[in-house]
Amino acid sequence: MSPVSPDVRSLEDVTRDAVARAMGAVLPPELADADPVVRRSDRADFQANAALSLAKKIGAKPRELAESIATALREQTGGQLGVELAGPGFLNLTVTDEAVWSQVAARLADDRLGVGTPQLGRRTVVEYSSPNIAKEMHVGHLRTTIIGDALARLLENQGAEVIRQNHLGDWGTQFGMLIQYLDDHPDAKWRAEDLDDGDLGTVSALDGLYKLARAQFDTDAEFADRARRRVVTLQAGDEATLAVWRELVAESEKAFQVIYDYLGVSLTTEHSAGESSYNQYLDGVAAELEQAGVAVISDGALCVFFDGITGADGSPVPLIVRKSDGGYGYAATDLATIRYRIRDLKINRLLYVVGSPQALHFRMVFETARRMGWLTDEVEAVHVGFGNVLGPGGKPFKTRAGGTVRLIELLDSAVQRARAEIETKPHTLSPEELETVAHQAGIGAVKYADLSTSRTKDYTFDLDRMVSFNGNTGVYLQYANTRIRSILRKLPDGGEERSKVSADGPLAPSERALALLNDQFAPTLTEVAETLEPHRLCGYLFSLAKAFTEFYEACPVLTAETDELRANRVALCQLTGATLTEGLRLLGIPSPERM
Ligand code: ARG
Repeated sequence: MSPVSPDVRSLEDVTRDAVARAMGAVLPPELADADPVVRRSDRADFQANAALSLAKKIGAKPRELAESIATALREQTGGQLGVELAGPGFLNLTVTDEAVWSQVAARLADDRLGVGTPQLGRRTVVEYSSPNIAKEMHVGHLRTTIIGDALARLLENQGAEVIRQNHLGDWGTQFGMLIQYLDDHPDAKWRAEDLDDGDLGTVSALDGLYKLARAQFDTDAEFADRARRRVVTLQAGDEATLAVWRELVAESEKAFQVIYDYLGVSLTTEHSAGESSYNQYLDGVAAELEQAGVAVISDGALCVFFDGITGADGSPVPLIVRKSDGGYGYAATDLATIRYRIRDLKINRLLYVVGSPQALHFRMVFETARRMGWLTDEVEAVHVGFGNVLGPGGKPFKTRAGGTVRLIELLDSAVQRARAEIETKPHTLSPEELETVAHQAGIGAVKYADLSTSRTKDYTFDLDRMVSFNGNTGVYLQYANTRIRSILRKLPDGGEERSKVSADGPLAPSERALALLNDQFAPTLTEVAETLEPHRLCGYLFSLAKAFTEFYEACPVLTAETDELRANRVALCQLTGATLTEGLRLLGIPSPERM
């Protein structure tokens, strides 16, 4: 268990409360709880805008109402908050220098940077990655893996109990084909140890097997027949068939693990809960649905119908629980899965990080679960969809030959590109360090480019832009962080000891701006955990790094005029560095010491 600390309330929250109290004193009781609408502002530290909309309700002029709130606020805060009336009825609010420095001290003193645990008590499934067994991971698995991992980390940080689930596609008809092919070709090479071209080969060996088996399946009717019979044997639990299937699954999982480790993603086989694990529940689920009348037989298939879900010709599109041949498919598995997660795992928040094209599927699964009473108002189920990764020119991402882009190759090219970029700058990294840093920068660049795009939008995979030291990139943030570390390394103690803040010290505008941004870290994390939008954290970290640059240009740290001034600025460096490092870590991005 990580130590849970009481959160440091942000100055924005404290200010909002003060305005709310003042409003309570001047407004009629029915409006006393209205939102004070306090936001960061470039006119002052914060601005409160509530008077504008509330004035109408009490038949007053906005400026008059704002004036009386201001008076109450000044009285209540005893001059501890600068209050100025502006425009048609805005209140410009300025906190004291002392409050700002105290806040820096409080966040810096805490190992969690004063971040609270508002998600405590929420048992959350984050389902992500979910590749298909015996197939290679490709560019289509990139976003689910990166976004899912970031959300899992962020929610955990906010106190949620996170259960990661890798919903592997391990139970389809393709297994009959693969197992039959292996029976026919006992010498086929498909295991990692059959190839000696290192880790990258591990992943492609199985894929090669898949392609060979597929080719025969498509051209040899007699083989295809045997393959189909073999699926039935597998699903009926034939031990010899299951043994080969288990080997295929284990070998695939090894290959996926190579990618997860390369990506620094926190998934392991411990989180695997493939489609096959729900096989045992499918009959029961179908029976339960039919008994409840939620599913009905239509053309021999067991189906769930929905108001307003129709095909192009206007006829209803059902969710097919059981096909007319008695077989179960993807939908049945997902129904068994949601029932299991809610009923057995006692989950109260369910996140499915799966591409947007499956939106309709999840709408139907959730609606069915709701009708069955599995999904209640106490449980939140969300399809966390996302847009596509596009190739050059915004076209679908394909290899030159028109094939799917292998994920491992894509990641490898990002690392090579990052290495080249780092080498264009003068550096003092040893060859081994360069290897490590290139990996951290390349993977960080890919993850950041993905996470900083609003989730539901498509983006173009453009390595040149991603690994740039300039602009809103992972490399820029990592580099900004190494600059802070290099400043701290020059201190007598190497910046190890947390600096002692003097709350009554002077405060320059760029110090104030940087301190107030650091103070937004906790509320930003809280917001991301609610909205499931990691790009907000990216945007925040980018602003923080820019504010640091402005601060550092205006305020010498190591050569500050007084010891007190230096100590305060060192504290700001330490807090900013810790916030950047932690923010990146929560996105799954490492922070090199030097680059
Ligand atoms: N294996 C599926 C695919 O590659 C994704 C699984 C998504 N999760 C789910 N519960 N249906 O498309």
